[in-house]
Amino acid sequence: MSETPVKVAVTGAAGQICYNLLFRIASGSLLGDRPIELRLLEITPALKALEGVVMELEDCAFPNLTNIVIGDDPKKVFDGANVAMLVGAMPRKAGMERSDLLSANGAIFTAQGKALNESAADDIRVLVTGNPANTNALIAMSNAPDIPNERFNALTRLDHNRAKALLARKLEVNVGDVTNMTIWGNHSSTQYPDLFHAKVGGRDAGLLVDQIWVESTFIPKVAKRGAAIIEARGASSAASAANATVEHMHDWLTNTPEGDWVSMAVPADGSYGVPEGVISSFPCIVRDGKYEIVQGLSLDGFSQAKLQASIDELLDEKQAVTELGLI
Ligand code: NAI
Repeated sequence: MSETPVKVAVTGAAGQICYNLLFRIASGSLLGDRPIELRLLEITPALKALEGVVMELEDCAFPNLTNIVIGDDPKKVFDGANVAMLVGAMPRKAGMERSDLLSANGAIFTAQGKALNESAADDIRVLVTGNPANTNALIAMSNAPDIPNERFNALTRLDHNRAKALLARKLEVNVGDVTNMTIWGNHSSTQYPDLFHAKVGGRDAGLLVDQIWVESTFIPKVAKRGAAIIEARGASSAASAANATVEHMHDWLTNTPEGDWVSMAVPADGSYGVPEGVISSFPCIVRDGKYEIVQGLSLDGFSQAKLQASIDELLDEKQAVTELGLI
């Protein structure tokens, strides 16, 4: 008997991240040679463009892509989904206040959380890439009471990869030599990329660079990399965001490498003083499809203050969406 396909739901499917992401999923970057059914959600005006993307997916003749379903109704598209990658979101437009952005995205993620609750498979895992990713994930989670909270993650893997790559370039080593990098907090400019627990070829990264470089170059460059890409490319990061989305979900479904960890934004459980009720990035390991926050890392005063600033922002965002009645 042939294997049952894994149903992978993806939103924002006609957008620029998905123009890379869908082909990576279908070609095996997510689940190797396991059969996959793609279930693609878009808003009604973008369905025609999505039909073009579907034609291209068909024309790749991916042997493990068994079926593609498209639509604009989240309940139907999420029906039976085992994996959901929520990429589609409302971008910030000129003149838009932060509260307008939270409110516009709140409507999207409220509806999608409810739809997942109603129609996804029991083993559903949800990863939010669309910004503001942490708070959108919190909204979806809060609107899906029957799905365990730990099945909702947000994406900070792109920041994690950016931090590893920047440190490798600085030290002129292969990026594969850099392990145990951590992004703490929110996927925003307040995030704290922490190299003090990272290793480079097994040596402590903190001993290989000086504090001035960390503070004046490393942290701001990682946090502002997205803006630098927009400035250079005239469009926001898409292929690297798709890569990070696939990598996060791949690792979550399998295992992280022995001795290393990855950054995942997950529901806080009080670890490192991050209060329950926000979705914050932590160093995480995954064993047999279950993630755990790495415990016992020591944070000095500098690191504590950086983490606290990002927690404060997450709490502010939470307060704003609570006032809007979204959670
Ligand atoms: P895009 O604008 O090219 O595509 C977004 C797509 O989402 C559009 O096709 C739009 O029609 C669709 N969409 C909007 N509302 C929807 C809804 N209710 N249901 C289904 N689809 C809907 O944007 P792009 O470049 O693909 O980025 C997507 C999101 O990812 C943005 O919010 C962006 O800020 C975020 N992002 C997050 C990163 C991260 O590291 N967490 C990195 C890069 C981007």
